[in-house]
Amino acid sequence: MIINRPSFFLILAHIITATEAAFVSTNETEYRALLAIKSQIISDPFSALSSWNDSVPLCAWNGVTCGKKHQRVVALELPSLQLMGFLSPYIGNLSFLRVLNLNDNGFHGTLSQEFSQLSRLRALRMAINSFQGELPTNITNHAYLSFLNLSRNNFHGRIPGEVGFLGKLIEIDLSLNHFAGTIPPSLGNLSALSDLSLHSNNIGGSIPPELGKLSNLLFLRLYSNNLSGSIPTTLFNISSILTFTVGANNLSGSLPSDLFITLPNLQLLLLRRSKFSGSIPTSIMNASQLEMISILGNSFTGPVPVDLGGLKNLEVLAFGLNPLGIEGRDDLRFFTSLANCTKLRVLSLYQNGLKGTLPNSIANFSTSLTILQLDFNFISGVIPSGIGNLVNLQLLSLNFNKFVGRIPESIVLDGLLRLTSLSLGLSLASNDFSGPISYQVGKLVNLQALDLSENSISGEIPPTLGDCLVLESLRLGNNQFTGTIPPSMSNLRGIEVLDVSRNNLSGPIPPFLAELPFLKNLNLSFNMFEGEVPKGRIFGNLSAVSVVGNDKLCGGPPMLQLPTCKDGARKKRRNGFWSQRIVLIISVTVPILLLLVGGIITTVLCQSKRSKRETTPASLMENHCPKLSYAELSQATDRFSPANLVGEGSFGVVYKGVLPSNEQIVAVKVLKLEEKGSIKSFMAECEALRQIRHRNLYMPNGSLEKWLHPILNMTGGIDNHTTFSVAQRLSIAIDVATALDYLHHRCHDCIVHCDLKPSNILLDSDFVAHLSDFGLAKFLMAKASRTQSSSIAIRGTVGYIPPEYGIGREVSTQGDVYSFGILLLELFTGKRPTNPMFSGEFGLHEFVDRSLSHGLNQVLDPLLCLEEVQGNLHHCLVLILRVGLMCSAAQPNERIGIEEAAVELQKARDVLQVCTK
Ligand SMILES: *[C@@H]1O[C@H](CO)[C@@H](O)[C@H](O)[C@H]1NC(C)=O
Ligand SMILES: *[C@@H]1O[C@H](CO)[C@@H](O)[C@H](O)[C@H]1NC(C)=O
Ligand SMILES: *[C@@H]1O[C@H](CO)[C@@H](O)[C@H](O)[C@H]1NC(C)=O
Ligand SMILES: *[C@@H]1O[C@H](CO)[C@@H](O)[C@H](O)[C@H]1NC(C)=O
Ligand SMILES: *[C@@H]1O[C@H](CO)[C@@H](O)[C@H](O)[C@H]1NC(C)=O
Ligand SMILES: *[C@@H]1O[C@H](CO)[C@@H](O)[C@H](O)[C@H]1NC(C)=O
Ligand SMILES: *[C@@H]1O[C@H](CO)[C@@H](O)[C@H](O)[C@H]1NC(C)=O
Repeated sequence: MIINRPSFFLILAHIITATEAAFVSTNETEYRALLAIKSQIISDPFSALSSWNDSVPLCAWNGVTCGKKHQRVVALELPSLQLMGFLSPYIGNLSFLRVLNLNDNGFHGTLSQEFSQLSRLRALRMAINSFQGELPTNITNHAYLSFLNLSRNNFHGRIPGEVGFLGKLIEIDLSLNHFAGTIPPSLGNLSALSDLSLHSNNIGGSIPPELGKLSNLLFLRLYSNNLSGSIPTTLFNISSILTFTVGANNLSGSLPSDLFITLPNLQLLLLRRSKFSGSIPTSIMNASQLEMISILGNSFTGPVPVDLGGLKNLEVLAFGLNPLGIEGRDDLRFFTSLANCTKLRVLSLYQNGLKGTLPNSIANFSTSLTILQLDFNFISGVIPSGIGNLVNLQLLSLNFNKFVGRIPESIVLDGLLRLTSLSLGLSLASNDFSGPISYQVGKLVNLQALDLSENSISGEIPPTLGDCLVLESLRLGNNQFTGTIPPSMSNLRGIEVLDVSRNNLSGPIPPFLAELPFLKNLNLSFNMFEGEVPKGRIFGNLSAVSVVGNDKLCGGPPMLQLPTCKDGARKKRRNGFWSQRIVLIISVTVPILLLLVGGIITTVLCQSKRSKRETTPASLMENHCPKLSYAELSQATDRFSPANLVGEGSFGVVYKGVLPSNEQIVAVKVLKLEEKGSIKSFMAECEALRQIRHRNLYMPNGSLEKWLHPILNMTGGIDNHTTFSVAQRLSIAIDVATALDYLHHRCHDCIVHCDLKPSNILLDSDFVAHLSDFGLAKFLMAKASRTQSSSIAIRGTVGYIPPEYGIGREVSTQGDVYSFGILLLELFTGKRPTNPMFSGEFGLHEFVDRSLSHGLNQVLDPLLCLEEVQGNLHHCLVLILRVGLMCSAAQPNERIGIEEAAVELQKARDVLQVCTK
């Protein structure tokens, strides 16, 4: 560890004879200190310290800077090099050091007493590491310190009042640690301070009024602590302030009406989730620099100031969850002035007490508006047709208001017949809309949730709704719809919630409702449906389906207790069905495969020897080639009941089953032999499946598709997604990368998935992602024949298929990496690769690539953009998007491997973990 004397002198002798004069004059103490630091670094993946050797002069070592005159080490800068290890106390011997930058590495250790020897230190940057311990009081030894950044470490304890003696401090960033205690009033003495970031700690007490003396402060970030009391009025006199974020504490009190006059430079004012009350400062009309204001979740009352036209830079206005509004007045008059805010992206006013009508001037709003939430207010009148001008709107929630009249067609197509971009949701529920809905609704091809319930809408359900292919939730309940359920709705393969209750619908209940694979909630109650109720899947689950209040229904599962049908239901022909098919059974925990043809076992693949598990039933263990009869499989799957259907693909269907002999859960795959290529791929697939034994593979549950494009919930509020999302999305990405890495490299033979996309990724109750192959025939041996490869490759999914497959290239692991890259970009942009905004050469990859330089907000999923994405979170997101770009490069050889992607994402997670505590 420490170099012993004799060898040290040997080295020194070598140096003196071998190198030039500049080197000789270097202090031997520093040489020894640097080597001691190097010796404690256990991981240096980029070989950043390889130049720290005797054939290179010390002052030329990577990261080392020496003073011009006396050749002493004045700076040690090694940021973002993934260096890991303990920081040696020898650092204290670099007594001329002015700059120490170790940001963004894996160092641990404390600010040992040796640190206090660094009396010339000006910049101490050790953010994003694993340093721990307390801040020593003799930090005062660093009398020249200007920059102190210890953000995102594991420091704890109080912030010593002695910090207030460091009169040269310009920047203090102690955020994202475990600091407790209170804010020392002495910090108010730091007259040069421009950045005070103490957010995301456990700091309590009140904000000391002394901070008002910080007359050069630009950034004040105190959010996510336990601060209480009111904001000292002295703080509102710091005219230099740009960022003022103190939300998510227990702060209360009101804001001075002249706040935006005394703080004329304010860009960010985030006071969310606090106990503030009083009215919104009228001086807001002067806030020409304001970019984001969030008072979400407080107790502000009174009117929204009428003139916001001066807020030329406003991007986010979040006033939701406050009791704003005033009796006997039109509360929406300020809308007219918002037309001047040409950068507005998010307007969130849900759950207030706002009254009045939506002014026609909404047509003049900025087209950059993506989120408009006005739900749970008292807004009346009609929706102005000019709303169609908002062509980039992704979420429109007007539910729980008092709107009347027809739903304007312009919600779908504006005057100029441009398609609106509604994708996250359109919610108009609980108003008094009337008249039929336009057939143009089918043009909303990206819409995930449509809620028109609790209105007076009449006419038929437009058959064009079947074109809204990505709909997950469709609520039409409690209206006056007539006619039948259109057959085209069988196209809604992703639908989970379908509610048509309390209408005047008639005709039969279409049997396809029993086949929609993801349907979880079906409400047909209180209509005039007649005839036989279908059996199977959702109809087998009493808590998921309701048919009450339809007097002419019969049949269905016995538990529905309906009268038997007079005609007698015709049984489906099962014989022909099975003789055309092969049954393949795969155990979920232990891979056992067998093949059945027409009920007779013809081939049995043995289970792998590596798959020993204590839970494995003896009968299966004894016999490595278990044989199951058709009768057993039939019993296991409840006669291949649609209720056990877990997935369906081009080559077959998969059922969940429970083996009668030992209650083991298995998946049974039934191949469609009439599909060309299904037999050919059968043996290769068996071999592939036999080797798969990974926790992120194969576990049926809800798909990522659903989670990624969330259903608009009735309570409004996109708020809950914001903290949840980044960490969860990243964790899913890592799960998928790990599973792919397993398939590509750690199985016995390389396996290419070939159809990676959100709907093939299943999430369990803990949101752990599992790769599934329900689309079937997507596992493939690398050594499989070429014809087979390409025929299967073409079955990938548009948007996720790598370009080279299109020109007939062989299936490869790089192809999967491409799909993964697209998936990753989709995860964080919220945009599907099939979004109509993309065409030709301009895809999701190009979009992210080109837009990233204009700022993260241009790229990120709007649901992630509500918070201040800055500092480390920003860094983390950029890192993730870069991985997505590197994976989805057009040329296969330009893509990184999946292991590398996994490592990069793990790193991003380390960065994030501290950030989201
Ligand atoms: C090296 O630096 C140390 C501490 O600054 C000092 O005590 C020592 O005399 C110096 N040695 C030489 C050879 O300059
Ligand atoms: C010393 O560092 C130089 C520059 O990085 C490198 O080229 C050389 O290989 C290194 N020598 C040894 C012995 O590591
Ligand atoms: C340098 O620092 C180490 C550890 O802090 C100490 O043991 C050593 O005596 C110091 N001085 C020299 C000249 O190396
Ligand atoms: C610095 O403070 C620590 C405790 O906070 C103490 O152990 C150490 O001796 C002090 N060092 C100097 C040089 O004052
Ligand atoms: C620093 O602040 C403290 C507390 O606010 C005060 O008592 C002290 O006099 C100040 N010191 C200087 C040097 O300004
Ligand atoms: C909108 O901005 C223009 C100048 O850019 C200004 O003349 C007008 O008064 C503003 N409108 C409102 C409502 O503030
Ligand atoms: C502290 O360092 C981190 C990592 O480089 C950086 O993201 C953050 O912005 C810095 N803090 C300040 C206040 O500059």
